Amino acid sequence: MGRGPAALGPGVSRLFQPLRLRDLTLPNRIWLAPMCQYSATDGMPDDWHLVHLGARATGGFGLLLTEAAAVVPEGRISPQDVGIWSDAQADAWARITAFVHAQGALVGIQLAHAGRKASTHRPWDPARGAVLPDAGGWTPVGPSPEAYPGLAEPAAMTLDEVQAVPGQFAEAARRSVEAGFDVVELHAAHGYLLHQFLSPLANRRDDAYGGSVENRERLLLESAVAVRAALPDGMPLLVRVSATDWHEDGLDDDDVAHAAARLAQVGVDLVDVSTGGVAPATIPVGPGYQVPAARRVREVSGLPVSAVGLLTSPEQAEQVLVDGAADAVMIGRPALRDPMWPLRAAHALGVDVDRAPWRPQYERGAWTA
Ligand SMILES: Cc1cc2nc3c(=O)[nH]c(=O)nc-3n(C[C@H](O)[C@H](O)[C@H](O)COP(=O)(O)O)c2cc1C
Repeated sequence: MGRGPAALGPGVSRLFQPLRLRDLTLPNRIWLAPMCQYSATDGMPDDWHLVHLGARATGGFGLLLTEAAAVVPEGRISPQDVGIWSDAQADAWARITAFVHAQGALVGIQLAHAGRKASTHRPWDPARGAVLPDAGGWTPVGPSPEAYPGLAEPAAMTLDEVQAVPGQFAEAARRSVEAGFDVVELHAAHGYLLHQFLSPLANRRDDAYGGSVENRERLLLESAVAVRAALPDGMPLLVRVSATDWHEDGLDDDDVAHAAARLAQVGVDLVDVSTGGVAPATIPVGPGYQVPAARRVREVSGLPVSAVGLLTSPEQAEQVLVDGAADAVMIGRPALRDPMWPLRAAHALGVDVDRAPWRPQYERGAWTA
């Protein structure tokens, strides 16, 4: 191979090694990060989502994660989020999963509930902050009545409402299986509902779901147990966590690594390690800035992990795997610039054509002349 640290032999790279999780063999370790498109009507994925995910499937991503898909309507971040709370939505997803599979790629759905960060304007709306009920929004719910700064005050969830959440995730997981997804990921990061319960910065409850670490972890663990039970044994379950709140009173990577160890015990197969989002914070953003957190979660939990966040060059991404910091990488914004990021990486790293995910229609792109 050309430049790069891999020592697997000529023409080979760790990014393009398969990874087995339960009965599933992921064809490579370059995965599309979940990215909201804010482009759905009534939670229905449509042609935009087919092309967004489809282009990246032809671009060689071994696993594509959908954007946050709401498990209930009030769990949408914006009114334009996709969902999987209805059979009609599952049918619409089935068209997309079929196309991805026809390209030799796999696809996972990120199941989400935005909690107190729901009902907000999409980023390119002229208005900012909450979409109010009289403008097509709704009153968000959360563990406690404190608002995320700048957003609407949530209604504190009753105990019954909290105890309904694992079932809502499980029902969405059951629909995801019917829709043809290969993987399910629980969104427990970025300050959304499951993270709100986990973090002392957003959870002020004094019942069985607040206070001690065990109580704050309860909703995430119960949701993971319920989803695991809704999935076939051979299907992997991923959880995205924020490994640190970047706040002295919040969670740090040790807290989250230990939560991940408990997730391992209830049948979670891989932790997707991100950071932040539960409260405003100064984040030391830089190349690969979340990789150390991924490594810590991997060491403590014993689970495979994926790393994400400013992994931009093939050599840098390869090095994360060579160093043993993570088992896979997720690529977000670079994939918005370049849906063919994995094929470009294969070319740059000199990976043999038959070891890289070229579609036959695009194979000539492997050769410079
Ligand atoms: C437009 C956009 C939408 C995003 N939506 C989601 C989402 O739905 N779920 C999620 O977990 N992360 C979301 N993220 C975060 C990405 O998954 C990723 O973690 C982050 O962008 C850092 O990776 P990158 O530097 O490769 O972009 C989003 C990021 C962007 C840029």
